[in-house]
Amino acid sequence: MTSPVFSDEFRLDLERLFTWRRDVRHFRRDPVVPALLDDLLQASTLAPSVGLSEPWRFVLVEDQARKAAVRNSFEVCNARALEGYEGEQAAGYAALKLAGLDDAPHHVAVFCETAPDQGHGLGRATMPETTTWSAVMAIHTFWLAATASGVGLGWVSILEPEAVSTMLDAEPGWDLVAYLCVGYPMEQANTPELERMGWEKRNPERRQWIRR
Ligand SMILES: Cc1cc2nc3c(=O)[nH]c(=O)nc-3n(C[C@H](O)[C@H](O)[C@H](O)COP(=O)(O)O)c2cc1C
Repeated sequence: MTSPVFSDEFRLDLERLFTWRRDVRHFRRDPVVPALLDDLLQASTLAPSVGLSEPWRFVLVEDQARKAAVRNSFEVCNARALEGYEGEQAAGYAALKLAGLDDAPHHVAVFCETAPDQGHGLGRATMPETTTWSAVMAIHTFWLAATASGVGLGWVSILEPEAVSTMLDAEPGWDLVAYLCVGYPMEQANTPELERMGWEKRNPERRQWIRR
């Protein structure tokens, strides 16, 4: 196969993709075409991984009782997380993710097999977390591929990982990395929703790099 040459036009589109990728909290309820969802999950497995260990495990959560149990876990954790905050803003922020969990037509749990045979342990001796990072690379690839196809993703991490692992019959040695709401977004935006809500804003200092 000949290696591709990426055009200037493609690079501009790629920049637009990075700019318009969003953590989505408002979803339409219609499902993503099954073939497209398959393609996106396939694309995510092109991500790099430590020692080529491919430690990610994507679980499409379809059972309504399991979905409800995860939602419940979120509500419990969220209430606890909000204890440290005052005012309506935090409550509003919390409600947003709940709406995402209720409306998104697809839920995808991503686990990491923390000590996979595949990869023969290469690269993990001093930094065992690299398996988790590899799973996150796959999530990010999924996120970008989804955005490119008009599909949105909302990341939920305010959950009890062990309880959710049990709810989803995770295999021994799998760690929960993310719980993702997936579906068509109600709106497009080129700035984070938390910035639009006044919760937090991008920091120009983070766009600087350091020389040593
Ligand atoms: C590791 C990780 C965990 C996250 N967990 C949550 C979460 O639990 N709840 C939530 O509302 N957003 C969560 N997010 C989404 C971030 O809030 C979002 O990425 C950030 O506000 C920037 O917005 P953007 O993704 O639209 O650029 C998470 C994102 C990452 C990368």
